[in-house]
Amino acid sequence: MKRLIMLSAFTGAMLMTTLAPLGATPKSGSTEKKPFGKTPDGQPIDLYVLTNKNGVEAAITNYGGAVVSLKVPDRNGKFADVVLGYDSLDGYVNDKSYFGAIVGRYGNRIGHAQFSLDGKTYTLAKNNGENSLHGGIKGFNKAVWAAKELPAKNGQSLELTYPSKEGEEGFPGNLHVRVVYTLTDSNELKIEYSATTDKKTVVNLTNHSYFNLAGPGSGDILGHQLVIEADKFTPVDASLIPTGELRDVQGTPLDFRKATAIGARIDQDDEQLKLGHGYDHNFVLRRAAGAPISLAARVVEPNTGRVLEVWTTEPGVQFYTGNFLDGTARGKGGLTYARRSAFCLETQHFPDSPNQPKFPSVVLNPGEKYSTTTTYKFTTEK
Ligand code: GLA
Repeated sequence: MKRLIMLSAFTGAMLMTTLAPLGATPKSGSTEKKPFGKTPDGQPIDLYVLTNKNGVEAAITNYGGAVVSLKVPDRNGKFADVVLGYDSLDGYVNDKSYFGAIVGRYGNRIGHAQFSLDGKTYTLAKNNGENSLHGGIKGFNKAVWAAKELPAKNGQSLELTYPSKEGEEGFPGNLHVRVVYTLTDSNELKIEYSATTDKKTVVNLTNHSYFNLAGPGSGDILGHQLVIEADKFTPVDASLIPTGELRDVQGTPLDFRKATAIGARIDQDDEQLKLGHGYDHNFVLRRAAGAPISLAARVVEPNTGRVLEVWTTEPGVQFYTGNFLDGTARGKGGLTYARRSAFCLETQHFPDSPNQPKFPSVVLNPGEKYSTTTTYKFTTEK
């Protein structure tokens, strides 16, 4: 009897779905897990395709926690993938540009690849001249993360965790790292980073997505209009290590307080632009007083009307114009990525903070919780 009722209820439900007029049932999001290949040492890697109720799609792999693709609509509802990346795992294994990856234990540079805590000097792997960049030779972008789909109220969530061992790339302390990606039904990719340690250490986590809001194969990003909510930036020396100064953007080509095309001043005769080979600078964000999360940057692509807003709890953002992209890597759909064909907005604490006592601290003590949030929000304008 019970079976019969269940069966008829099931047929009823089936009928309702078949008979419901097209588009009447509200769409819901989904997460699909697919195999993405094996690492050279044989570990299976997955790709998680998160789709929200508007059809926005974020594909994330647990190799390096990389955002592989991000498909968002333009002002006419036409979807395009707005991030650079690779079609297969091999691309990520061989990648040198950090496409879409989670960067750690220390995003950005540490001068002379060393720092001291409580009088003890720690020597890190040098992978950028004399400096340590983005966590070292095998940073979090090359780690295999444990992945778990999480229930989310307003979207789809994927949790990634990684236990970074004491001494990894020279950093002290066992660091337990957790990153939760949520694709919300408001077309945001929210990234929540947290970490705990068993010994005093330094942490600075970010995501290294390269954006081109015009979509794949659409050339350079110089026509994108950019606002950065910063009155100051941290000028750098020839090895891109901050000098320690917080310099006013006023009167410099780093003034993005009003919407300006990325390319409008990029080739100006300017000492900082020359050192960075374009923009490759950390901006000191003007944080909204008392607000838990503030707008860091807003980018508009005029032809498609796609808009990206970056919101963060972090004090800084590295604006990088893909100056080192050289068209050699084979990207998605066989595309190659030329110099300045994408930009990054890497939310972070300032570069070289472990050696800069005046910069906000990146020290994490046992018993404390590192916790930051960054949201990439997509909208359109006419
Ligand atoms: C960051 C750095 C750049 C470059 C890229 C990766 O944005 O600041 O100098 O190293 O990462 O290529």
